[in-house]
Amino acid sequence: MSERVPLVRLDGVGKNYGNIIALREVSLEVHAGEVACVLGDNGAGKSTLIKIIAGLHRHDSGTYEVQGEPVAFASPRDALDRGIATVYQDLAVVPLMPVWRNFFLGSEKRRALGVLDVDFMRRTTKDELMRMGIDLRDVDQPIGTLSGGERQCVAIARAVYFGAKVLVLDEPTAALGVKQAGVVLRYIVQARERGLGVVFITHNPHHAYPVGDRFLILNRGRGMAYHTKDEITREDLTALMAGGAELRQLAHELESTSRSVAEELTDRPGGMDKGAP
Ligand SMILES: Nc1ncnc2c1ncn2[C@@H]1O[C@H](COP(=O)(O)OP(=O)(O)O)[C@@H](O)[C@H]1O
Ligand SMILES: [Mg+2]
Repeated sequence: MSERVPLVRLDGVGKNYGNIIALREVSLEVHAGEVACVLGDNGAGKSTLIKIIAGLHRHDSGTYEVQGEPVAFASPRDALDRGIATVYQDLAVVPLMPVWRNFFLGSEKRRALGVLDVDFMRRTTKDELMRMGIDLRDVDQPIGTLSGGERQCVAIARAVYFGAKVLVLDEPTAALGVKQAGVVLRYIVQARERGLGVVFITHNPHHAYPVGDRFLILNRGRGMAYHTKDEITREDLTALMAGGAELRQLAHELESTSRSVAEELTDRPGGMDKGAP
């Protein structure tokens, strides 16, 4: 497609856990200002894929490049240093701490003599959330009082503020209702519009399609399909999902079952009229 060097490129990546093959020959590109969606059923290898991107696991085969350079991260810290930030579903937040404390957790802003610059952190948190379109009245409220969707948004805004180039989101909408999922999807679009590359993991094609530019469908560790948006419709994407293939098989089976039931009925005396044209 484009000549630009992708922010992240996986080519033929494989990963085993002992003798379990979690991923085999998987390829994916993440470009600046694009959302790459990774879809698949449970056990498809989605988490394994993002753990490789995030620096938590090493791939066993294939190549992983960041801005054209092959990498083999030893830790998530290494990945973060290259601008790859991962937001996990079970967010590492301290529920009783204020939103701004969580926003700056581990990267606190200090003044002379190590005194926390509370004013700066409060103001920055409020401004950054505002830039992402979230208007929190009170950044002093404990983060635990926010909804799941809002907490995801704070985590995304935080990653953006601390300079992420690539945002990796592991099923950020899975536990959310329709309205809150919408809030997170809007955030994903915001991050894209600010020029980040986003890797969005989900098993929901209806969440992926409206925001995605590329779609990788994993099935039992393999890339089953890889399409840009102009190559695929929402219906195709839904059908391609692991469940889609199985549903087709099920529909086929049910169809032939009902056909054989119908045949059996017509064979019986007093059954359906076989003589009809
Ligand atoms: N740490 C691990 N040790 C052994 N097997 C694992 C481990 N993590 C994942 N797997 C296996 O790898 C496969 C892919 O898992 P995963 O990447 O978690 O899939 P997904 O996130 O799509 O549900 C599954 O068969 C899973 O059981
Ligand atoms: Mg998973």
